Amino acid sequence: NGMNTLILFAAAALTSGGYTVTPNPCPNCPYRMRIAPDGRHAFINTSKVGEAEYPAMASRALELMKKAADTSRGGLARPLMGWSSWNTFGLNISDEIIVSVARAMATNGLKAAGYAYVNIDDGFFNGHDPKTGVLRWNYTRFPRGMKPVVDEIHALGLKAGTYSDAGRDTCGSIWGGDTPGRGAGLYGHDTADCQLHFKDIGFDFIKVDYCGGIALELDERDRYSEIAAAIRATGREVRFNICRWAFPGVWGADIAESWRTTGDIRANWPSVRDIIAENLYLSPYARLGHYNDMDMLQVGRYVGEVTNPICKEDTGLTYVEEVTHFGMWCMLSSPLLIGCDVRALPLSTKELVTNPFLLAMNQNDLGVQGYVVRREGEAYVLTKDADTRFGTARFVALYNAGDEVRDFKVPFADLDLEGPVQTFDLVERADVGVFERFLTASVPAHGTRFYRLDAARRVDRRVYEAETAFLPHYQELTDALKTGTPVYHQDARASGGVVVANLGGVRGNDLVWKDVRVSKPGRYRLEIRLIADRCAEMSVQVDRGEVVRQQVPETQGTVGSVAFERDLAAGEHEVRLFCKDRLPAIDVLNVTSVK
Ligand code: GLA
Repeated sequence: NGMNTLILFAAAALTSGGYTVTPNPCPNCPYRMRIAPDGRHAFINTSKVGEAEYPAMASRALELMKKAADTSRGGLARPLMGWSSWNTFGLNISDEIIVSVARAMATNGLKAAGYAYVNIDDGFFNGHDPKTGVLRWNYTRFPRGMKPVVDEIHALGLKAGTYSDAGRDTCGSIWGGDTPGRGAGLYGHDTADCQLHFKDIGFDFIKVDYCGGIALELDERDRYSEIAAAIRATGREVRFNICRWAFPGVWGADIAESWRTTGDIRANWPSVRDIIAENLYLSPYARLGHYNDMDMLQVGRYVGEVTNPICKEDTGLTYVEEVTHFGMWCMLSSPLLIGCDVRALPLSTKELVTNPFLLAMNQNDLGVQGYVVRREGEAYVLTKDADTRFGTARFVALYNAGDEVRDFKVPFADLDLEGPVQTFDLVERADVGVFERFLTASVPAHGTRFYRLDAARRVDRRVYEAETAFLPHYQELTDALKTGTPVYHQDARASGGVVVANLGGVRGNDLVWKDVRVSKPGRYRLEIRLIADRCAEMSVQVDRGEVVRQQVPETQGTVGSVAFERDLAAGEHEVRLFCKDRLPAIDVLNVTSVK
């Protein structure tokens, strides 16, 4: 039968290719063959080809896995991978749950795939002792206290994460009626609590929530900076997450490893879709070791199967939505914290979250988050570099946020690549072909296709959307129109459908394209397209050199432009726009070589 043929073939591949090949035990998974180099392994999809093609597929997959390993040298700089208790268990956590989850992770393949952190979210404490000021445990849920739990997690070769609030009270105590969370926050206890968590108990990560901070009307930047200082003072290298449910400002990246950008995720499609939408234009603020946190994963929680004590909105995801969810978290370099009950991890979810080709898109040392290169309605094309910056290998997502199936036809030129392009489908785990000019695919409603492209040549980017530029004053904590900070506006007239407005006015409220790269020295035309509702002036500075003032004509409801020429050396350049007054709404920078 088929199984025997595969096993027979496995033996043949072992002798000819130097790797072991065994069938996948997951009967419903499309990936039929397991390859196992150096202790790591991957299932690849041999279901659509004849046996004669197996060895070629296996060696290609091995080559991609080797490249992924080469670009991720380990360490603390990559997006956090692990599990968090909140999405499934809410406040109903316990010693038994945490330890049994950690044991499952250590043996079910999650640890082997890189999921190292076991994060205990809200609910394990019982205020601070009024006399001694020491944080107390919730002994009903954790009868042994926390140290033995963390010791067990460490003994399994995993790391442990803790939770607190910047204010006095935790979110669960304010919104969930969990009275033991009253007074459990860090406020007034930074030094002692950090000492307790990181030195005495040995936690390796902390998420600091903000419900208590809101209640005390604290200043986010000051407060989180104080907490960061208290963590640093322990001398431990602890990974620190700001949980303030909005992009806090560029200061977040200076003190924290990740910062939540949205409200709480739910296990339903609109929630996943809206979180992706809120993160599409945040790539300029991520860098190696510092990431936009899109919240804990809801994968493994399928429609019809979610039994959730904490939220009735958790109606579940379909498999197609789950692929979009996990893959886009990888493309956008979010931390990957699984939130389902991993003691009963569905096989299809396990295949997805341990997919080494998708993980390579999230876990690398380039520190770049994917960005949108093209958008038509609800259809988005995103990309990010794969092995090296500006190299010939890129990851691509064809994301269909809409409710109808959608056909994509993307010119490789839009991805700064030239054919022929070898195209590997990261979810299908198979090469889908070699193409000359276009990447084409049909993508189901709510679905996404993820590829790794290996092109013949990389060409210079010509289109720099304003929404992919760095905005030093961008923040989402306060009303931008009142505060005078930039906003991204949907605008059908604009390229990419988005402009950046509310720039200028005060010093530093600039727009900066940091990575304008030309491969050849020469003369270039820089055209800035914009929408100006009145006559305005704009200062342009290339590489922090001479400031050139440009008069901007009123564009009368259409997109106008200001253009100038510059000699540019080969390499990366910075183009900065600023103004004492309001800048016009900026659409895009087009860079072309002048012959
Ligand atoms: C907030 C956070 C969640 C979770 C809960 C716990 O809502 O955003 O991720 O930590 O608090 O109460």
